[in-house]
Amino acid sequence: MAKVVILSGAGISAESGISTFRDSDGLWEHYDIKDICTAGCLETNRAMTVEFYDKRRLDLADKEPNKAHRVIAELKAKYKDEIAIITQNVDDLFEKAGIVHEDVVHLHGYLTKVECEKCGLVYDIGYKNTQDSYNGKCPTCGSEKIRPFIVMFGEAAPMYAKLNHEINDCELLVIIGTSGNVISVDILSSYVDKTILNNLEPSFAINDELYTQVLYKKATEAIDEIASDIEIFLEDRA
Ligand code: APR
Ligand code: ZN
Repeated sequence: MAKVVILSGAGISAESGISTFRDSDGLWEHYDIKDICTAGCLETNRAMTVEFYDKRRLDLADKEPNKAHRVIAELKAKYKDEIAIITQNVDDLFEKAGIVHEDVVHLHGYLTKVECEKCGLVYDIGYKNTQDSYNGKCPTCGSEKIRPFIVMFGEAAPMYAKLNHEINDCELLVIIGTSGNVISVDILSSYVDKTILNNLEPSFAINDELYTQVLYKKATEAIDEIASDIEIFLEDRA
């Protein structure tokens, strides 16, 4: 298990041109969460739900990692098992920055993947519409019931077990770009000695007095200081 956990949210991808959820003009200002991101929406509102994720998937094709993703990828390459990269984001910007997909814990799913609701196969369709890949059918069983590989509110989120596992052994927790509305980062930080919080501005869901260090600035402007703190921490432990 890693000594450093970097937990990110939509804010780390904002400067790459990917909308956050709750900032002004965020995704949830234009869509109703219950229509396209709540358990059961695929039964009650399938077409709009599939279209919403198809649009976000296509939009991802030309998005590039920003400095925050790149610096974190360099740290992961240098300190391998000592740093765990955990994200609420479903984009592939850490992977585009060079981190192997298996080394990124995506808590809420992954936008380029879809899942067959009949046989459970999860497969990658790149940046295409669901209908434009494998003729819209499961390559294994041929079913047409293909859903986005995204965890909707109220659905099981199996990767959270990995987050809890990593927090158990964590000695430095770095939070970047999350409002704390879904994952209580305050509770996570209470288990860890040293914590760094980087957001654009205070969040009602986060008590920043609980954190060792607070950086209210863009992730790309905070990342050099964060990286230096991580390196000093790991070198001192070595
Ligand atoms: N640099 C750093 N932080 C930023 C930046 C930036 N350039 N831009 C925005 N932020 C911060 C904001 O201050 C805010 O605290 O990112 C956070 C974005 O918060 P949300 O939009 O709530 O996104 P997130 O916390 O990731 O949402 C969690 O909610 O809707 C679900 O499943 C979805 O994974 C998502 C979860
Ligand atoms: Zn199938």
